[in-house]
Amino acid sequence: MNKQELIDILNDDTKNDWLFKKADRIRHENVGDEVHLRGLIEFSNICKRGCKYCGLRSANKEIERYRILKDELLIYAKKAVEMGYRTLVLQSGEDDFYDTDKMVEIIHEIKKFDVALTLSIGEKTYDEYKAFKDAGADRYLLRIETTDKNLYKIMHPGVNIENRFRCLYDLKSLGYETGTGCLVGLPNQTIESLAEDILFFKKLNADMVGIGPFIPHEQTPLAKAQKGDFWLALKVMALTRLNLPDINIPATTAMETINPKGRIIALNSGANVVMPNVTSQEYRAKYEIYPGKICINENPEQCRGCIEGKILSIGRTVAKDKGFRRQKQK
Ligand code: 5AD
Ligand code: FES
Repeated sequence: MNKQELIDILNDDTKNDWLFKKADRIRHENVGDEVHLRGLIEFSNICKRGCKYCGLRSANKEIERYRILKDELLIYAKKAVEMGYRTLVLQSGEDDFYDTDKMVEIIHEIKKFDVALTLSIGEKTYDEYKAFKDAGADRYLLRIETTDKNLYKIMHPGVNIENRFRCLYDLKSLGYETGTGCLVGLPNQTIESLAEDILFFKKLNADMVGIGPFIPHEQTPLAKAQKGDFWLALKVMALTRLNLPDINIPATTAMETINPKGRIIALNSGANVVMPNVTSQEYRAKYEIYPGKICINENPEQCRGCIEGKILSIGRTVAKDKGFRRQKQK
């Protein structure tokens, strides 16, 4: 689709059902009915950055910070593998405590479990990304958040969007399955820029795209801003499926945070991945990117059972393989 077509659909709510059904069909035809579960380990909520929307921003002195060190992290990883996860995702704030050597060691250890490994630890240099890749990391998640240059600047003081693009192209060139995505509903974000975001996913040939509504956090400068619209976020996700038919698209936690059926609705509108948390309760509430996050009172077993039940209830199955992107032969 071109930009105008995307804008027209985003502006027109009379065809939403058609859009969601079509995205569901394209998902079925291209990536099938299996849902890939990725076990998410949020291993540090310490962050040097100041993203205006994020509860983990360094200026937020009210949250209790934590780091999970290697030995404990490996316990969660092992448990997740025993529960059947074939992909683990290591996510953190931008925490320089985990330097290249520490990360490489963790990656080596996790890869011994015969799982696919995704990193989501922010902007790094080419050499760092290369070291992680050489150590065995398979995938990397780094949302562009918004492709609107002005909005990006306002939301991310002191950093520049060019470096984020550079990171994403470095990741691609190093052979990572590269995930990106955006927030929907940031203050002053336009429909036009959301269309540009989708065009960017296509241009990058992203292997994964995660989309979620913006949810205001009390302890950020955007505390009083309006939250993002669930249905608009879902439309951006469905349009992403139409334009990148064979990629992996998660039903995001943020979707379920603002709509109790959010992940099921997303799985029925183009999504084929869910990322349940596999750490213990003591950390969950502290990884408060936004308020109201689901699953903070559950343990890994409960989340696994809960999400499997939901997946089966809509006639889908849980994938048993590592869930790499299946690119169709052209
Ligand atoms: N609301 C919704 N999503 C958020 N993220 C960060 N802050 C918020 C918020 N307030 C998302 C960003 C980031 C991902 C890990 O969480 O898109 O990439
Ligand atoms: Fe955690 Fe449902 S996935 S409780």
